[in-house]
Amino acid sequence: MSKKEQLEKLNNQMSACSLCALRKNCTRVVPGEGNPKAEIIFIGEAPGKKEDETGHPFVGAAGKFLNEMLSTINLKREDVYITNTVKCRPPQNRDPLPKEIKLCWLWLEQQVKIINPRIIITLGRHSMDRFVPGKKISIDHGKAFHQEIPGMGERTFFILYHPAAALYNGSLRETLIKDFKKIPKVLEKIKKEK
Ligand code: URA
Repeated sequence: MSKKEQLEKLNNQMSACSLCALRKNCTRVVPGEGNPKAEIIFIGEAPGKKEDETGHPFVGAAGKFLNEMLSTINLKREDVYITNTVKCRPPQNRDPLPKEIKLCWLWLEQQVKIINPRIIITLGRHSMDRFVPGKKISIDHGKAFHQEIPGMGERTFFILYHPAAALYNGSLRETLIKDFKKIPKVLEKIKKEK
């Protein structure tokens, strides 16, 4: 089966998921989307209102900002893969609970295994905590880390602030844009190392 077919099969399984209560309160599952052979996977927090309505990740204001930043490094959404730590919208956009992130891990783990990206970019604290615990986003943003993840092997992570947090905060916005521009160099370095 091609990566595309494997992801389609996984997405169908995800649509029927009822492992946690989030599914009962949301409109639809938002599995993620992009290039099945992507070198870069972005992992945000959880779908919001717009994402819940459309079934696509990062399509609201934060998504627009993400698209803009991608274009600064000559990438389009279709070049990368974009998903979240949980695939269903939490009620009133509250933070996903640790229990929900844990239950939804099953899907994220399989996405990473299928896509096998060169780098995993965490967007925001929740995503960072799940992969590289013990880091502090205010200190470790814009840095890459190697981390062994059970079921995924050793992976490279690059920590970014969440676009929604940076959207209306001038200095955070500048920091995120600056960190984002480091991505091509970080990717180049990983390729040279391997
Ligand atoms: N914020 C996220 O973390 N994910 C989305 O898909 C949209 C907004």
